[in-house]
Amino acid sequence: MEKVTRKWWETSVIYQIYPRSFYDSNGDGIGDIQGIIQKLDYLEKLGIDAVWLSPVYKSPQDDNGYDISDYQDIDPIFGSLQDMEELIRKAKEKNIRIIMDLVLNHTSDEHPWFIEARKSKDNPYHDYYVWRDGVEGEYPNELKSAFCGPAWEWVPECQQYYLHQFSVKQPDLNWENPKLRQEIYKMINWWMEKGVGGFRLDVIDLIGKEPDKMVMAEGKMLHPYLKEMSRATFQKGDLVTVGETWSATPERAMLYSNPDGSELSMVFQFEHMVLDQVPGKEKWDLRELPFVEFKEVFEKWQTELYNKGWNSLFLNNHDLPRAVSRFGDDGKYRVESAKMLATCLHGMQGTPYIYQGEELGMTNVQFDIQEYRDIELLNVYKERIEQGYPEEEVMRSIYVKGRDNARTPMQWSEEPNAGFTKGTPWIRCNPNYTMINAEEALIDQDSVFYYYQKLIRLRKTEPILTDGRFRLLLREDPSIFAYTRETEKEELLVLCNFNGQEVSYELPDIWKDQEVLISNYAQEGSFGTLRPYEAKMIIIRKGE
Ligand code: NOJ
Repeated sequence: MEKVTRKWWETSVIYQIYPRSFYDSNGDGIGDIQGIIQKLDYLEKLGIDAVWLSPVYKSPQDDNGYDISDYQDIDPIFGSLQDMEELIRKAKEKNIRIIMDLVLNHTSDEHPWFIEARKSKDNPYHDYYVWRDGVEGEYPNELKSAFCGPAWEWVPECQQYYLHQFSVKQPDLNWENPKLRQEIYKMINWWMEKGVGGFRLDVIDLIGKEPDKMVMAEGKMLHPYLKEMSRATFQKGDLVTVGETWSATPERAMLYSNPDGSELSMVFQFEHMVLDQVPGKEKWDLRELPFVEFKEVFEKWQTELYNKGWNSLFLNNHDLPRAVSRFGDDGKYRVESAKMLATCLHGMQGTPYIYQGEELGMTNVQFDIQEYRDIELLNVYKERIEQGYPEEEVMRSIYVKGRDNARTPMQWSEEPNAGFTKGTPWIRCNPNYTMINAEEALIDQDSVFYYYQKLIRLRKTEPILTDGRFRLLLREDPSIFAYTRETEKEELLVLCNFNGQEVSYELPDIWKDQEVLISNYAQEGSFGTLRPYEAKMIIIRKGE
């Protein structure tokens, strides 16, 4: 087989930091950039190659930084531009690249562009945003904001509505305006000159929106815009770029992540993340995970992008519940199931992402409503209670799907506030930090942390993890996720039990007594059965 040269991000593991909740160095209760610098040794020990940083730009923090008021400055709650430069430099010394979060679909309403834009229809910046006249004194159309309520807001000075797909404080940018696009490219190049390793592009599938046709994602200009942006910016450097695309299908992902590099490196797709909601409804409308479908979604992405694109691999992020609570068992088998989920994901082809605290097996929380901070969660609570949903049902959805599950402070130690801050944390800590924390994990050789460290190392030493072709096994099994990866030289079997019971399976005898690369149980089990949440990778080195 011809040896393909891999790009750096194809053999990398990326760690996501939600800066506000990572580590607070100055006692104001909010995580900051100096806090990240202080924890670089921890990240180096884990072995990750790059850090994706959720937004740290200047922002009124209506949506925790996803509402940017200055793309070229840092919010004082996180530090300064000098801190950012120091982070990029010090991370580089440890071979860790810093990936910035680019929010290009919208800005804050406090961005100078919008402050100008809303002054009048004739203002030179008016056309940087999306404006429409009302229809018979009503909204231009029925478009809804992702954070509840109409997606249009009236501005008397202009006698027009502006579009906001997220909060009222996040007006949508008008990508049809070439001047706006050029300003954005200039800003991206400025960050590239600062030495960043890449970008994560927030809801990038929305920039080609056609609001008059009610088309938000995948508008007809989306891919031309991406190609233009990529040529004007990313292609000048050796960057990783990952687009957040809730609408992506494998066919579209082949465009986004075309190996010719004309758009992005890869996208985050969410097909596996919407299976536990009632089809056609919202994420708050819960249903049990259809496990066979879950496996088939992964199979589809693994096979369809093989040699034609590149997958990102993730089970949680700052918008999603904790993986171990959602797909594993955050009680009795927390450690086993956290390791099992990691095995299942890291055995696949693509770039794995670890969300802060995932490497400790951090879990969801159940708070009182006034203890939550997330705008989306608080809006949905208000809306659903007004609509007459029983309080208990609304709270259950929030416990299961609320974004604050992922945003409670990183659990560093058993000290007050999980060792995250010396002050009062901006959001309450998960009370289980006395048992689940980094200090503890670093002492325990069997911790979830060291298991992730091992998986990350395997990605470097076992080329089959990068190259092998995926094949799903035991398709109909209601508990086991099993697959192989294959190259000319090797074959890898990944076996994962998603169940708290012992289960049995039938697989060809060739897999018996082969080399076990990694397993989450200390004692080897017997071939043909898997203990609760057991997972392992078995490898056959052909011709040996
Ligand atoms: C997706 C981000 O991940 C989320 O946190 C944010 O609220 C929306 N985009 C709007 O920017």
